[in-house]
Amino acid sequence: MSDQVKLALVGCGGISGAHVNGYKDLFSRGCRDFVYTACCDVSEESAKRRADELAEIQGSTPAVFTRVDDLLNSGLAEAGDLCLPHFLHHSMAISLLEGGMHVMVEKPLGITIRASKKMIETAGKNKRILATAENIRRYAWARSGKWAATQQKLAGDVVAVDIANMAYGPFDANNPAMKWRMVKLLVGGGMIMDSGAHFTDMMLCLFGEPDEIYCNMSTMDTRMIQGLPVLGAAQADVEDTWHAVIKFVQGPLVTWSYSRALPGPILRHGRYYGTKGLIEDNGFPFHCFQSGCTVHLGDNTYITREEVLNAYMNSLSEAERKRLFPYGCEDGFGIQLWDFADAIRNSRKPELDGTAGLKAKALCEACYESAYAGEPVKYADVLSGKIHAYQQPIDEYWKL
Ligand SMILES: NC(=O)c1ccc[n+]([C@@H]2O[C@H](COP(=O)([O-])OP(=O)(O)OC[C@H]3O[C@@H](n4cnc5c(N)ncnc54)[C@H](O)[C@@H]3O)[C@@H](O)[C@H]2O)c1
Repeated sequence: MSDQVKLALVGCGGISGAHVNGYKDLFSRGCRDFVYTACCDVSEESAKRRADELAEIQGSTPAVFTRVDDLLNSGLAEAGDLCLPHFLHHSMAISLLEGGMHVMVEKPLGITIRASKKMIETAGKNKRILATAENIRRYAWARSGKWAATQQKLAGDVVAVDIANMAYGPFDANNPAMKWRMVKLLVGGGMIMDSGAHFTDMMLCLFGEPDEIYCNMSTMDTRMIQGLPVLGAAQADVEDTWHAVIKFVQGPLVTWSYSRALPGPILRHGRYYGTKGLIEDNGFPFHCFQSGCTVHLGDNTYITREEVLNAYMNSLSEAERKRLFPYGCEDGFGIQLWDFADAIRNSRKPELDGTAGLKAKALCEACYESAYAGEPVKYADVLSGKIHAYQQPIDEYWKL
């Protein structure tokens, strides 16, 4: 086992704050398995802010870089925690992997299937660890939801799932963190692949291999976006509304709907219908069970989310608790960082490696490919790259 892993935070915008908070939680519980030695962002101010926050936690100040090449040449870090816009995931990860660093990349893995596969190949060739930063499935609440729905089957076999988030709310096109999220060449796709990437990961985690996907989507918000990275100005062109139906090889039929463009009161629910009852998601339904779930039984009785959580936690062995909730940490961001560092220290696979990230991503891409083709697609054909018409312009633009 190697000593403390030296980690660089690469991309110090919005979500990197949650990574720092997850680290803080772990550190306060006694974890010293890794230390941040560098922060890198094209905005020096952003990198400095995170370096200062990390210094407060760990007592040593990470070095600040504005270029990934300089970070690599410094030799200060052996692993990168990448929190970057989607169009940079593959190029930055590949540079760092080729430079000998281990890499964990925020979801979704790469901007397309091809980008993701190149990342996986590069990690393999260089014998480095590639992990997908996916926090949702690691929360205690989420793990308890999975346990209730598919292991204990508290509502019987889940046969139908209905997920809806119809919530009018146009994006703020002046916010730099939203600009790149509105243009396909920079983000890869809209919410199907943004918070939708958490949803697809949880669907695979709960129900295994998808079979066939049909999706219909539309883009009503087509504003011109100014001040974009790389492109300068471009028209918003990602989906803002969709209806998808996902069939699993052995699992329920899932309907998945979303809009931020259709005015009206919010309709939001996550319902898992079983042969004996209904499991209701208690939080934002794309982040399945992150806030727990209530089990409604046919006889008008129900099991509360706290009861589900307690029963789940009591079912774990000491070794399982240590692995799933290291140092007692129940924060998904903290757990994913520990898992990455521990995988490096013990030369083992992380819970979500590149392939796990690719598989979740392929379900997002299957929605896009179906909507683009106007017909159902097989998940396996999208994962293999046989169907890729929606992604083709992105692959061409980034020379993938
Ligand atoms: N796990 C979650 O719940 C969650 C939530 C939000 C975002 N995300 C993911 O996190 C990633 C980042 O999203 P965000 O919301 O933090 O975006 P953001 O736009 O807020 O932050 C991106 C940061 O990257 C920096 N950057 C841009 N080009 C760079 C370069 N060449 N070198 C170094 N830094 C560069 C930007 O200056 C910015 O600070 C995305 O993959 C997104 O999908 C995950």
